[in-house]
Amino acid sequence: MVGESMHIDAIDWSLAKALLEWQVEMGVDEAILDAPLSRYELPETSPAKAASVAIPEKKSASAPPPPPVEADPVADARAAASRAGSLDALRAAIDAFDHCDLKRGARNLVFADGNPAARVLVLGEAPGREEDIEGRPFVGRAGQLLDRMLAAIGLDRASANAESAVYITNVLPWRPPQNRDPSPEEIAIMRPFVEKHIGLVNPDMIVLMGNISCDAGLGRRGILRMRGQWAEAFGRPALPMVHPAYLLRNPAAKREAWADLLSLKARLTGH
Ligand code: URA
Repeated sequence: MVGESMHIDAIDWSLAKALLEWQVEMGVDEAILDAPLSRYELPETSPAKAASVAIPEKKSASAPPPPPVEADPVADARAAASRAGSLDALRAAIDAFDHCDLKRGARNLVFADGNPAARVLVLGEAPGREEDIEGRPFVGRAGQLLDRMLAAIGLDRASANAESAVYITNVLPWRPPQNRDPSPEEIAIMRPFVEKHIGLVNPDMIVLMGNISCDAGLGRRGILRMRGQWAEAFGRPALPMVHPAYLLRNPAAKREAWADLLSLKARLTGH
């Protein structure tokens, strides 16, 4: 054993080797300091110091930190939406909104397209792949069919004339992964933004494209029963229609969709 007074110079080679081997045996695998340091020689903590350290511990034990305040995404969405005084401000507010997980999986925010002066607002469901890439609603196959349907009654999202223009947006501004249906929670969280969006555009009437839009606007689904029957959504006349993506899969349903388009045209022109 090495005596306390033994100086390092006094250790011969074989003893030093034996000591090192013993340390390795004990699990030492790294030298932290260049010079040896005896932990036993550190000054002892005085009782007064120990007491002063114990006080905050005692305090925190008797007064645990308050529980974290639960975020209320719908209330936050409502507050953010109500502060937006213009479409640009609303877009920025949605862009800054972090309570909807869809945002994290999406490439782009899909806000709207068309003419904000339009009398007709088309409310779709959520962006698909092409919309996510382009950052514009209804630009994929379903969107091209929608453009043809609107053109058949003289409406065009690119029109500068409010009478023949259309404004297009979606319930959800971010693409759900694998195009799954948005959850009721996601719809509820984003609904205040939709409501504000419609308020800012202030259209005369709304087309609710598909079940998700009916859910957001009317609080119910069942598009095949509801289609063609005017209702009230967001405080204005609203016409539920089957989604163009459904029409692509079920061309036979185009007959009813045509009847609904004529009903929209009649309401617009007043006869
Ligand atoms: N379907 C929708 O409902 N919205 C889009 O933007 C694209 C497809």
